[in-house]
Amino acid sequence: MKVLIIGSGGREHSLAWKIAQSSRLKKLYCAPGNAGIAQVAECVDVEAESIEALCNFALKEKIDLTVVGPEKPLVAGIVDRFQSLGLKTFGPTRRAATLEGSKVFAKTLMRKHGIPTAEFKTFSDLFKAQGYISSLGGPCVIKADGLAGGKGSIVCKTVEDALQAADRILKDRLFGEAGGKIVVEEYLEGEEVSILAFTDGSTIVPLEPCQDHKALYDGDQGPNTGGMGAYSPVPSITGELYARIEREIMVPTIHAMKKEGRPYKGILYLGLMLTAFGPKVLEFNVRFGDPETQPLLMRLKGDLLPLLLATVEEKLETVAFQWDPRTALCVVMASRGYPEAYEKGKEINGLESLKGLKDVVVFHAGTTKKQGKVLTDGGRVLGVTALGEDVFEAQKRAYAAIEHISFEGAYYRRDIGAKAVQRVRTP
Ligand code: AMP
Ligand code: GLY
Repeated sequence: MKVLIIGSGGREHSLAWKIAQSSRLKKLYCAPGNAGIAQVAECVDVEAESIEALCNFALKEKIDLTVVGPEKPLVAGIVDRFQSLGLKTFGPTRRAATLEGSKVFAKTLMRKHGIPTAEFKTFSDLFKAQGYISSLGGPCVIKADGLAGGKGSIVCKTVEDALQAADRILKDRLFGEAGGKIVVEEYLEGEEVSILAFTDGSTIVPLEPCQDHKALYDGDQGPNTGGMGAYSPVPSITGELYARIEREIMVPTIHAMKKEGRPYKGILYLGLMLTAFGPKVLEFNVRFGDPETQPLLMRLKGDLLPLLLATVEEKLETVAFQWDPRTALCVVMASRGYPEAYEKGKEINGLESLKGLKDVVVFHAGTTKKQGKVLTDGGRVLGVTALGEDVFEAQKRAYAAIEHISFEGAYYRRDIGAKAVQRVRTP
């Protein structure tokens, strides 16, 4: 098969790394890719949002399957466009991708179909939003309706912070037109987890649970990022809790989308808060998580291609797969300044020394190769991922591997997986 992956992050590198191992693969392309992806695929110089140019490429190269990584082209309708040309494409259609593309849509859907989530109200009028925020009198979360590159949700400890956030989104248009409406949401307390599932619209194949670390600094402090590290499995998710998540959230969401005339195919990502009142949805994503995909695919045994293909062909009930029982843990190395303005073009050293190491993979995100050197080229730069017998071992190995890598201004959290380590190693 000829496969095209769209995107250039750590998620896409892990997809490329896994698909490259498939016995069914004839040729792998990635648009636009990065320096790491270039080791396993042919990178094509077309941006992930240039839908027409991507179509032309896929037609010309007779691509058998296209896998879309990021949310932007999905929300813009890349799958509809590819399908209209007879091209098989992994991901939801534009109407289904609204689940991530509009928080107002997602929240309204959950309310209508009884899917547990934080209490909320939506506003396009600043004055009315201010009145509601003041009436709450405490912490809340202000969310821009549309896509904002993972920065659109602002967790506010005080009414003053929330009023300011509403002002910046609705009045100053901090996120442009994505901020034409806002959701004002109840603040939820608990541990966050990411649950992903393949679905072809009727069959649902849940994946092993993951935990991301959204905040920039250790101890979950500081601003939110795209994710600073992740691991899988998650010891706090028991079989019973997972079954509850499937029953109360995953299945009802797929059914709700069907009922709304927006049948959902692809990966459904549930961002959940495990509250004292049970699991509640923080957000839906309509794609693989980043960095969650890196540890997940390190643990997935066997071939990923049949799973992707069966999802597109609505035959998911026919495929079986297994997990490596070990833990995989990914630590993100980022550029100085991320998630705000960051530096680029710094030489990355030490990558060679980790090549061929068993059970350690350095997934590239914002990297590029120039004159034989690998340079930083994005906010999140690398995802150093390791397998270990338990989360403690995986953590130890990932951080040991990081010691070998350096670039000017490199920043990473030192506590990825710490909560789980405490759980499995404290008597
Ligand atoms: P979202 O864009 O909705 O996924 O939100 C980004 C991050 O903000 C989440 O991963 C949480 O860490 C935090 N967050 C979002 N909604 C809430 C909420 N209702 N209560 C507490 N934290 C939240
Ligand atoms: N790691 C969070 C996300 O993929 O949105």
